[in-house]
Amino acid sequence: MKKIFSGIQPSGTLTLGNYLGAMRQFVQLQEDNHCYFCIVDQHAITVPQDPKQLRENSRSLAALYIASGLDPEKVTLFIQSEVPAHTELGWMLQSITYMGELERMTQFKDKSEGRDAVSSALFTYPALMAADILLYQTDIVPVGEDQTQHLELTRTVAERFNNRFGNVFVIPEIKIPEVGARIMSLQEPTKKMSKSDENTKSFISMLDTPKQMEKKIKSAVTDSDGIVKFDKENKPGVSNLMTIYASCTGKTLEEIEAEFEGKGYGDFKGAVANAVVDTLEPIQARYHELINSEELDKILNNGANKAAHFANRTLTKAKKKMGILRK
Ligand code: AQP
Repeated sequence: MKKIFSGIQPSGTLTLGNYLGAMRQFVQLQEDNHCYFCIVDQHAITVPQDPKQLRENSRSLAALYIASGLDPEKVTLFIQSEVPAHTELGWMLQSITYMGELERMTQFKDKSEGRDAVSSALFTYPALMAADILLYQTDIVPVGEDQTQHLELTRTVAERFNNRFGNVFVIPEIKIPEVGARIMSLQEPTKKMSKSDENTKSFISMLDTPKQMEKKIKSAVTDSDGIVKFDKENKPGVSNLMTIYASCTGKTLEEIEAEFEGKGYGDFKGAVANAVVDTLEPIQARYHELINSEELDKILNNGANKAAHFANRTLTKAKKKMGILRK
């Protein structure tokens, strides 16, 4: 069995992009692999968060993981800050990660743009992400396309550690979904859909009501052609809606083009909205059963214990190799 690790930040309610790009893959992978899925709250605090909201978002994210189909008997689901090995190894890896490498990260550039004060933690974020992954001797990291650069840095840092101090870490591979790897903003379709976007019309939240989903899709930016055709360069808005429709229904892009030939964007957007509602409604029903339940606390307590047990073994090995334990 392969080891799988992936995390999602509790920096808002998950979007359809997080679901199609990341979470949905997790459900398929749990069947034949050892999976660790994490609520990465230490990553979320690299930008300002309201404490009460952050606590609620972490719980909500845990409920969404389970509601989306993760089976707590099969996977280890936990909150990053409840396993201190993550920040310990993160610090150790910072000591072998170079400023120049971190400066090249496009996520840092995107997230720091236009902010008055940027935290040093936002800058060193990729070293903590490398620690998250490497602690579990991870073989495969299922993520959306935006995480490719961070994953490459994780591999570089793991190889550097192994070469300098001796073999401790498995070098992980990235796994990106074939369809849905990059869902774009509904309002600015050249920018990725993000849960912390200030314009709430730009994303579908996994907890939006069917009416809200329909409204947001109907007001999604398209073009004046009136032709449903996949062309990312010249028709980014329509192409994004086609990707969403394909991801939710399993239809190919060619089938979708044929389905809407000679029809306007009104019909097309209506079908996309129905497909999104059909995908998210069953998840929402299970979410509402879980969110205030003791079952959820039990799952998270159990997950933190299991994760800490494994993570501490790797951490101790790494510390010994680096010379920061007495024996
Ligand atoms: N638009 C997207 N399309 C496909 N996949 C996506 N992911 C994020 N946005 C899209 C994937 O979701 C996983 C969790 O992401 P994250 O929350 O850890 O961080 P992020 O990539 O920064 O996501 P957001 O929604 O943009 O969060 P904020 O707004 O807080 O920065 C990752 O696997 C990611 O690839």
